[in-house]
Amino acid sequence: MSIKENINLEKLPVHIAIIMDGNGRWAKKKGEMRIFGHKNGVKAVRDCTEACAELGVKFLTLYAFSTENWNRPKFEINALMELLVSTINKETKTLNDNDIRLTAIGDLESLPKSCYRELMNAIDKTKNNKRMTLVLALSYSSRTEIVEAVKNIGEAVKEGKIDPKDITEQTIIDQIYTSDIPDPELLIRTSGEHRISNFLLWQMAYTELYFTETLWPDFGKEELYDAIIDYQNRERRFGMTSEQVKN
Ligand code: IPE
Ligand code: IPE
Ligand code: MG
Repeated sequence: MSIKENINLEKLPVHIAIIMDGNGRWAKKKGEMRIFGHKNGVKAVRDCTEACAELGVKFLTLYAFSTENWNRPKFEINALMELLVSTINKETKTLNDNDIRLTAIGDLESLPKSCYRELMNAIDKTKNNKRMTLVLALSYSSRTEIVEAVKNIGEAVKEGKIDPKDITEQTIIDQIYTSDIPDPELLIRTSGEHRISNFLLWQMAYTELYFTETLWPDFGKEELYDAIIDYQNRERRFGMTSEQVKN
């Protein structure tokens, strides 16, 4: 029996987020340049997207480039951006064939023009797809996202459109990049790092975290199924007692 059959389809996470980490170390172990690791990470992206769509997961968010990643060597950034352009270009047809909508969060306008154009083109071409939404976090910083939300709310207060007394969690949710995306129930980080790295800080208030030693290019469908099964075996208590949850 395949491990996939152990997944309870009634208890699937609606939204899975992944910090795809370990490409550089994967390449180094093979005596290759870091970019070789990034190139080999594309297959894992494809596999996970396919696996999530097949299972019926509605949202998959992939952390592909953080604002902090702009501090990497210029040639690695350039190679990553080129890889992004060529991958988006190549995969748009597959996304359409599989009824998958592409969207993106982050400071997208800071991306190189060619990258931004390709991304917007793919987002537009896939915008009517319904089976699953694939969210790419690009030039993403969760703190920046929150700062921008606070600025917008501040403006609204200044213009008298909102009374500070009426600010609720929903006011903030309405202003963050993910306003139309439910919070992830499951976060996966590969490569053995146990940190969040400025990813979805607001949205992960109650997310279940799953860490694996596997380096991203080696991550595939089977391990995604493992992570989902692990998630399904947890008791999500949201502050209550176990007895309350069970009744
Ligand atoms: C993740 O792999 C991809 C990006 C951050 C773009 P890394 O490039 O961080 O790989 P390691 O962590 O150095 O192994
Ligand atoms: C986080 O990975 C960002 C992405 C996966 C795109 P990093 O490898 O850049 O994270 P840190 O800096 O080691 O935490
Ligand atoms: Mg890393």
